[in-house]
Amino acid sequence: MKVLIASDHAGLELRQELVASLKERGVAHDDVGPVTRDSVDYPDFATRVARAVAAGEYALGVLVCGTGIGMSIVANKHRGVRAALCTTEFEARMARAHNDANVLCLGQRVVGAGVGRAILEAFLSTPFEGGRHERRVQKIREAESQG
Ligand code: RB5
Repeated sequence: MKVLIASDHAGLELRQELVASLKERGVAHDDVGPVTRDSVDYPDFATRVARAVAAGEYALGVLVCGTGIGMSIVANKHRGVRAALCTTEFEARMARAHNDANVLCLGQRVVGAGVGRAILEAFLSTPFEGGRHERRVQKIREAESQG
């Protein structure tokens, strides 16, 4: 499993914290950046991660901005991406188990480093349950193609 992570300037420190967590846990990953706090546009970074996950180049994506909202809006515009904005471990577990979410969005201005790390851990370690949830995820795919 390989993870692609990115942020904007407002999510830089939490992203660095999450990258440290991925390293500590030995999770294969690539970090898109940015590397400085210079102002950037979150749609550019969300699109890079969303396209790579949708193309199957990465199993999961992680996006951090100030609130996580902008990243999640953009990521969910991409077919095949199910981005979940999570503020708790519970939401992260449910996003994986029930929604088969493949992109985690976090807000640095919303959650601290410890909670952010715990959310990431829950997201990475929870499998999709399938079963009745597979039918519902299939309906998400149908909604994407019907517009
Ligand atoms: C940047 O100031 C901020 O708008 C952005 O990080 C994000 O919170 C948008 O949803």
